[in-house]
Amino acid sequence: MRKPLMAGNWKMNKTIGEAVTVLKALKSSVADVTDVEILICPVFTALSAAAAEVKGSNINIGAQNLFWEPKGAFTGEISPAMVKDTGSAYVIIGHSERRQYFGETDETVNKKTKAAFGAGLIPVVCVGETLKEREDNITFKVIEKQVRDGLKELTAEQAAAAVIAYEPVWAIGTGKTASPDQAQEVHAFIRKIYSEIYKDAAQKTRILYGGSVNPKNVSELMKQPDIDGGLVGGASLEADSFAQLVKYSK
Ligand code: G3P
Repeated sequence: MRKPLMAGNWKMNKTIGEAVTVLKALKSSVADVTDVEILICPVFTALSAAAAEVKGSNINIGAQNLFWEPKGAFTGEISPAMVKDTGSAYVIIGHSERRQYFGETDETVNKKTKAAFGAGLIPVVCVGETLKEREDNITFKVIEKQVRDGLKELTAEQAAAAVIAYEPVWAIGTGKTASPDQAQEVHAFIRKIYSEIYKDAAQKTRILYGGSVNPKNVSELMKQPDIDGGLVGGASLEADSFAQLVKYSK
């Protein structure tokens, strides 16, 4: 009942021209895919061109961040309506790199999540424990707080539409993937916590796994009952490898 979502987070990579070139190739390689939803999240500067390039195709575009205020004296920030205006449908919120380098907290994640919905965008809210937190055996405590505080005060409809991405920080860009069992354990836990807050919506919400996903490990991960797709960094940067991920992710 949950349509898989394969999402590429391009992070701070690609000029406008580079983004369009990859999307052109990706568009034709995945043209026949109907059973997996596809999302690419380029940098802000490439959003409009990316959205124009994929218009009418089965690829969605999303931003990697936004600010919650609608407009005003917030130099360097981009509002939810401005993101929507580029033709984007989604926005990644609270990625661990934003939490680590830009001071994002569960509180700002929640403000951004609500503001995204307010502008008609679907948030992909990232949660995940650091290596130290896993070693200290507080993974579940950390994840529970991130889910409860970051995704609080949504309507039932928003709660069902929100996408959650579980990205163990120790698996991001390290080549170390969580094993399918390790990932499933946390995904099932996230769905349980979410069902305590939002009941039925929790069965509809897609929970993506992120952290060194590649064409070799994607199938095993996707076989897990609570893994509904991937949020992919490195392996999403080239059309070929991302197209393979999309095709192996059923
Ligand atoms: O948001 C995706 C990400 O953090 C995972 O990156 O390069 O390990 O696939 P990567």
